[in-house]
Amino acid sequence: MEKIALQQGFAKDVLDGLTAEKKYLSSKYFYNDRGSKIFRDIMRMPEYYLTDCELEIFKTHKDAMLKAFTENATRFELLELGAGDGLKTKILLKHFLSKAIDFKYAPIDISEEAVKTLINDLEKELPAVKTEGLVGDYFNLISNIGMNGYTKKVILFLGSNIGNFDEPTALHFLKQLRSAMNPQDQLLIGFDLKKDPQLILNAYNDPHGHTAAFNLNLLQRINDELHADFNLTNFAHREEYNPETGTARSFLVSLKKQQVTINETETTIRFEKDEKIFMEMSQKYDMQMINNLATRSGFEVENNFFDSREYFVNSLWERRS
Ligand SMILES: C[S@@+](CC[C@H](N)C(=O)[O-])C[C@H]1O[C@@H](n2cnc3c(N)ncnc32)[C@H](O)[C@@H]1O
Repeated sequence: MEKIALQQGFAKDVLDGLTAEKKYLSSKYFYNDRGSKIFRDIMRMPEYYLTDCELEIFKTHKDAMLKAFTENATRFELLELGAGDGLKTKILLKHFLSKAIDFKYAPIDISEEAVKTLINDLEKELPAVKTEGLVGDYFNLISNIGMNGYTKKVILFLGSNIGNFDEPTALHFLKQLRSAMNPQDQLLIGFDLKKDPQLILNAYNDPHGHTAAFNLNLLQRINDELHADFNLTNFAHREEYNPETGTARSFLVSLKKQQVTINETETTIRFEKDEKIFMEMSQKYDMQMINNLATRSGFEVENNFFDSREYFVNSLWERRS
């Protein structure tokens, strides 16, 4: 497993976010070892329909996907950005093995724990898969994602991870990806679609408390790594969803007027009662939004794979010349 130096920007990013007029924290810092474990609990909750939808899509359309991936090449490298535990990807990997396809799997994740766990699992479950994991921030890695002897890349970006970016960031990210892709390469992106707002709110306001624990874990990480004194019981998780724009937002709300000291940066942060820290957005899309995003970032939509309820889509893109 190759480990690319992670940005030393945690302290700076935390400070920038907590001293801004509207406080925020970057969701990429959710995924320390504990955060990755909590995210696996989130993915397995019945309310978090996204996992079941994407699992269903892969089970139903794995043959059509393979056909699309091998239309212009017999062998390819499957590169997954933010692979997590690879739960859904394993369906494709098993299928490709059963069809004796020549491919290599390269999961990339900012969480070392996630990459290590995934590689260990694959060694046990699917030892025939050629795997090379990479730990690092995909924003820093995409401009030099290598070919490793394979002439074609299929890039996976699943779980509606794209929805964690605001529109300018998503466009920037996709344009960067495009410039690292060759004409025969393909990009498969998972998009969560607009649906009954209550279903969306239930997915993030879960009764098990996993989403709250996931958000609060970032405050704990700041305590541990930047020697701060957040009292986690003084903050509560809240989810908001705007059906018009399709934007869901997670916040931590300060339950009282309080102050927190971050010793590492010698900073005191003051919170008013009910003041919010914006933690993460989870954009929901319609097909027009997806087509617009593809066009504006220089891609063409080649195919769309839906689940039976049309809650979710895996959209297959290639570079527009
Ligand atoms: C929403 S989860 C999705 C996991 C998986 N793709 C799935 O669909 O189940 C996001 C994953 O991306 C990783 N991640 C988040 N920000 C990242 C970044 N900037 N660079 C690399 N990985 C990142 C996290 O560690 C996590 O495993």
